[in-house]
Parts: sequence; C-alpha cells; structure tokens
Amino acid sequence: MFGHMSELWINKFREHFDGILEWSESIDDRDRMGADHTEDFHFPPDLVAFPNSTAQVQSLLKWAFENEVPVTPAGAMTGLSGGALPVKGGISCSTKRLNRILKIDDLNHQVIVQPGVIVQEMQEAVEAKGLFYAVDPASRGSCTIGGNLAENSGGPRAVKYGVTKDWVLNLEVVLMDGSVIHTGANTLKNSTGYNLTALFIGSEGTLGMITQATLKLLPWPKYNALMLVPFGTAQDACRAVAEIFIAGAQPSAIEFMERSAIALAMDHSGQDASTISPEVGAQLLIEVDAFEPEALMPQLERIYPVIARCGGGEPMIADDEASKNNLWKLRRVIGEAVKSSCPYKEEDTVVPRGRLPELLDAVKALGREYGFESVCYGHAGDGNLHVNILKRGLSDAAWNEQLPKAIRSLFEIVIEMGGTISGEHGIGWVQKPYMDLAFSTKALQIQQQIKKSLDPKGLLNPSKIWPVEDSKI
Ligand code: LAC
Ligand code: ZN
Repeated sequence: MFGHMSELWINKFREHFDGILEWSESIDDRDRMGADHTEDFHFPPDLVAFPNSTAQVQSLLKWAFENEVPVTPAGAMTGLSGGALPVKGGISCSTKRLNRILKIDDLNHQVIVQPGVIVQEMQEAVEAKGLFYAVDPASRGSCTIGGNLAENSGGPRAVKYGVTKDWVLNLEVVLMDGSVIHTGANTLKNSTGYNLTALFIGSEGTLGMITQATLKLLPWPKYNALMLVPFGTAQDACRAVAEIFIAGAQPSAIEFMERSAIALAMDHSGQDASTISPEVGAQLLIEVDAFEPEALMPQLERIYPVIARCGGGEPMIADDEASKNNLWKLRRVIGEAVKSSCPYKEEDTVVPRGRLPELLDAVKALGREYGFESVCYGHAGDGNLHVNILKRGLSDAAWNEQLPKAIRSLFEIVIEMGGTISGEHGIGWVQKPYMDLAFSTKALQIQQQIKKSLDPKGLLNPSKIWPVEDSKI
C-alpha cells in the first residue's frame, strides 16, 4: 500500500509544502536516513522532512494522515534495533532542525529540550550550571534526546541513575492526526490520570512524534574514580557483580567486557591487542562518583575485598582525566568495533543481575550447540548483556535459518530467568519476531489497541514492534 505509490503523492507533497517546510529528496539524505547502526539495513525513505517547529510537525503529520503516507520520526540514526528505519518508505521526519535547548531551569533542576538535541551537548550545557543529566548511552556524542526517549535508552550510568524514563517529567507529542498533547506536568510528583509520559517513552515513534521534553536534573557529582579490574574468567567477573552491591557499594557504572570484546575494541582503536595478558578472560570497568573527593575512597574500599574474593586481579586505577577518557573510549567503541569486524547480530538481553553468570553460560552453551561465536559485553550492574553473534564461519543457511532458533532459545532462557528481550536498544525492526515471548497474547492485544487508537491508519513508523508483518491493527 505504501512507498511504491510515491509518485502519486510526492507531487502533491511538493505543491502543499513548497515554501513552508524544508525537505530533501537527495539520494544522500535518503540514504543517510535509510540506515542506522543496526546490522546493514538499507531502507531509504522517499523524502526527508526537516520541520523546525511543533507547528510544522503538526502540519506534516496532518497532511500525511489525510494522504495516507507513512511517516517515520528519526533522530541521528544511531539506533540498534532499526527503530527509525523507514521500512515502508514514505517520509522520514528528521529532528535535525528541532535542536534547541529551550530552557535550563536552575531553580527547579529541570531542562526543556527539543528532540534533536545531541545528548552530550545537553549534558555539557547543564554541567556548565553545576547540573547533571545522568543517562549516557555509548553514542552520547551523536545520539539525540528524541532517539533516547523513543527507545528508552540506558547506558553505563543506568545502574545508579536509571534509564531515560526515570528522568522525564513531561512530553509534548504531536499525534498522527496533527493534534498536539502534553503528557504530564513539569513537577516531580504527578498522580493525575494515566501515565501517558511513560506510554510514549520507548514507543519508538509508533504512537506520536515527541516535539519537546521536560527532563529532571540532579546536582552534578563531579568527582569520580574509575578502575579496570582483570578476571581470569568471564564467569568470575560476572559473579563479582552482584557481590559488589551486596557489600553495600553503589557504583555509578559497572561494565563487563569479555576478552574478545576488549581485543576487538583495541584493534579497532589501533592498539595492540596482543598486549592483553593471557591470564585475562574478562574485565570489569567500575566507576564510583561523589560530590566530594573524600567520599570516593570509602566506596572503593567496599569493592576491593569483593574483587579479591571473587578471583579478580589487581585493579588498575585511572588516575587522571586522560586515562579515564581512554578507558571509557575503549568501552564505548566496542559496538562499533564488532560492527566493523564482520556481519553480526546483536541481542540486548537483560536479566536480574544475580543471574548474569547463568545468562553468560547459556549464551556460550547455545554457541556450542549452534556453532556460533559470540562477543559479550555490557552493563553488568543492570544484568544487561549485549550478546554479539558473529557470522564468521557460519554458512548463509545456518545464519538465516538456524540462528533465529538459537536466538529464540536464548530469549526463552532470558524470560525464564525473569529478564526480557531488550534492556535498552528497543524492539524496532529486528526483535519483533520475538515479542510473543515477552508478552502474552492479551498483553500484546492491549498494546496493539493503544496503537490503533493513536494511529488508526497504521501510518506512523509502520511495521515496528509488532510480531506480525503488517499486523491487522
Ligand atoms: C553499548 C551500546 C551498544 O553499550 O549499547 O556500547
Ligand atoms: Zn549498551
């Protein structure tokens, strides 16, 4: 129904929006918005719109609704589940020109932003006023707030500070028929009606387009200590994680990297991976933060005995900003390093953190059964393990036919452990065949009814989240 009919609507679009909206039909822009950081998909939209105000988004969606043209809201295209890929063609609605920080409210510790603001830029702007926005996905230098809201992004600091949903007070959302709503209030408390704010966060642009967000901030804990701890085996490293919390420590990050992940990241960054000691099977990168420098050491002192007890080696403390940045750079580049090494699939498994060792075992056992190699790393403190399955020696048949069965088995195990199939990357385009594992039929129906009531024609970011292709919403 969509996309292929573009010649029928594009002329109408040009006539309607000439002089009142910026858009591009260039191959470059369409290609850029047709791919993200998920595998190697390529779904260029027919055109890319660049609205610069809520009013422009309203008129765009209203027109698309009336003319039955699909619209996919999109930020920086750094997504990891294909959430912003315009798989049905139509219009990619970019947030590039909706990129203003509208207000930093020091009095109330809030910031009001448009969705196209780059996360790191907002963090730096609030830090300059002594304030802190904690959510810091690996791609924070390029991803947008709108994308983070759409996917309910996390990142290393989620273990202490939570994920995107924990920082949102209020959203302005344009619905597919062009109406605009506010979902909450700019208050810390709100027990008024259904929680529409929560509904839109993580809805991956399928229910409406977020045009403004009020986020809460904290005072900036500007001191931190960072250490890299080697472990002989990945199992030992994973076992140490829950123990660290039981010992009463509250790290601001606790990241797990197995040896192959470290090696890929080093290769990718031009470092010599053969310098990793043969005794290192995995590392934990542990950060603690505080408002006063003296508060750091007591936290580290709770962690050291746990490491020793769990078979960890001598921690390497990063003692200046440059070494901290280098360690974080290496950690943040793992995803990109895997992507550039060979075809891969990334699973964003998450379990209660005490079950992380079992999860890792299950991944490796499935790898032996199905003959795949996996590179595992992630936010261990959250029980969030990124499992990257590499194609390497696998035949196309094994990759296309057997692997989905292995992934299904992995997700069954994850759910059995009380976890779920995506911790922070979303369902988007790639994980939808597995939604029936995460929800009962009834729970899926409820979600589809919500979708239908907000997007009755199924035009907004079509073919995402739902397990059935072109589900009969
Ligand atoms: C990371 C991304 C892949 O943790 O979520 O690096
Ligand atoms: Zn991650």
